Amino acid sequence: MKTFFQALALPLAFNFLSVVHALPGGPWKPWRTGPDTNITDDVTIIPRQTSCISTGDQSTINALFSSGGANTVVRLCPGVTIPITAPIVFTASGQEISTQGYPTDSTRATILIQPGSTVTSAIRGNWQNNVKILNIQVDGNRPNAGYLGGDALLEMGGGTTGQTVSHTVVKNTRSWSCVHFIGSGQDNNPCRQATVTFNDVGPCGHEGTDPATGNGLWADGLSIECMDTSVTDNTITGATDGGIVIFGSPGTHVLRNTIVSTSSSGLQFGGINMVDPTWGANYTGVVVSSNTITGGPNSFINLGIGMGSQVWSNPHPETNFGQVTVTNNVFTGNIGFSIVINGWLGGLTVTGNSVSGVTTPSSSFASAAGCGSVQQASFAASQQLVYYPAGVTGSSGPNTIQPQFTALSTNASNWLCLTNPLPPLPDTKSFAPNTLSVDASVSRVVSLRDFHVQVQGDGNVVGIDTTGGVWTVKWASSRYSTNCGTDGSQCFLAFGIDGNLVMYDATGPLWASNTDGRGVEVIFSREAPWVSVMGAGGRVCGRLGICGVERLSRWKG
Ligand SMILES: *[C@@H]1O[C@H](CO)[C@@H](O)[C@H](O)[C@H]1NC(C)=O
Ligand SMILES: *[C@@H]1O[C@H](CO)[C@@H](O)[C@H](O)[C@H]1NC(C)=O
Ligand SMILES: *[C@@H]1O[C@H](CO)[C@@H](O)[C@H](O)[C@H]1NC(C)=O
Repeated sequence: MKTFFQALALPLAFNFLSVVHALPGGPWKPWRTGPDTNITDDVTIIPRQTSCISTGDQSTINALFSSGGANTVVRLCPGVTIPITAPIVFTASGQEISTQGYPTDSTRATILIQPGSTVTSAIRGNWQNNVKILNIQVDGNRPNAGYLGGDALLEMGGGTTGQTVSHTVVKNTRSWSCVHFIGSGQDNNPCRQATVTFNDVGPCGHEGTDPATGNGLWADGLSIECMDTSVTDNTITGATDGGIVIFGSPGTHVLRNTIVSTSSSGLQFGGINMVDPTWGANYTGVVVSSNTITGGPNSFINLGIGMGSQVWSNPHPETNFGQVTVTNNVFTGNIGFSIVINGWLGGLTVTGNSVSGVTTPSSSFASAAGCGSVQQASFAASQQLVYYPAGVTGSSGPNTIQPQFTALSTNASNWLCLTNPLPPLPDTKSFAPNTLSVDASVSRVVSLRDFHVQVQGDGNVVGIDTTGGVWTVKWASSRYSTNCGTDGSQCFLAFGIDGNLVMYDATGPLWASNTDGRGVEVIFSREAPWVSVMGAGGRVCGRLGICGVERLSRWKG
């Protein structure tokens, strides 16, 4: 247990301590405030600050860390914003950046990446033991500085122990993650015993890909490759890749976190991921308990908790393993699949997870049209808890999996296959005069529910029923032209400002409704009458006195 003494609680004799240092233990260890105080071996005394940083940039802060050495504390004044164009870098163990007085509200100082810079990591703390980021706000400024590939907004971890990120706001990363604890690649010196707690994370990333580069715009909230780490009591709102991604990390506990997707960032792939083969696919002792995962309104989470090598979009040959515990998590709102397990070895305990608050049916907020047949069947049945028994084998203990799980009889990989449902198409669509002009190079006049109308390169206008993916021509104007131009752009259907619906080719009108001066609206429908020109008092008939497909076909010849 670590106890912090604020400066004002110290005897006056300590006031001379204006140096900006945290003093771990040392000569003050035996000091006691009274009989009720529970003093432990690792008491840290934070001396009184005579000043805090109110202006400057990354150079100001980096100079203090470089000159101060180990345990230097850089305190930012409440309410200040420090613009940066390069990372803030911890240079020795035990260094800390925090807001003076450790506020937990909007007065926490803000580190803000500047537009025009090429920095993606605001703070680099990797490979320094016991460094701390406390009670500040770190803003990657993605809306203004833009998306940029690179390291995470907070880049921590490496071969270290005891790092802390706490009571900090981390949002708008430009790159692939808001907070990353990177592994060390060293078996004898892994990233270990970090604390990531009470942070407010997100939004992180966006849905979809960058049109210029094709790179995914999505980003994680917390990406943790660090063993025996506590990831607790964080709120992650608007991550778009994984809310919390556990990369192996034996012994890590992920408890009481709140993960919510938001419509402003779009579709979120995963709530908590245990899918990657990092750390040799070793998840021994990982505990994921009492987290709340919510698919927010007007958005959804594809996979609440994904467990195993066969669950994500990149199934891998290594089987994830280890006795892990996934208990008492609560899933609510729009979640496609709450827990899917396939590709695990080692004795799972998956119990007490609640899905009663998940929106049903799943098809009301997502589409499984891009999924395999097994996933489509589970989705259609709104199955929230599924596992493939042959892909979940126990070697170091029995599996205990709550009875609400559906056991799949067929192996299925890649459950990250849901998409936003297409908005429902209308049964009719209407146009006012001068709002419709479509040529045969564009072709599509309207898309209706299971129906569409197109202008073809031969001048023909056709209405097609597409129910079940089978195209059936329901009506055609059957007036052809050889004067549509090589790209079809000379043949076009227009509802003119005079209320006349006219089909033109390069030489002039092919046919018309002859409703000029009377037509106020043209209506396309998926049922007969397929096309109607309406007047102010109702249907306006053309020269043949018949509206819709009947008239169009009778114009033939
Ligand atoms: C002192 O701290 C220890 C370790 O956290 C704890 O077990 C014990 O209950 C505490 N005692 C009191 C009096 O708070
Ligand atoms: C998995 O990680 C645990 C914890 O570090 C370790 O004790 C165990 O040996 C590892 N298992 C394998 C097969 O590497
Ligand atoms: C399930 O399918 C994947 C991908 O084809 C395969 O790697 C895996 O071994 C299969 N699982 C079982 C238990 O057969």
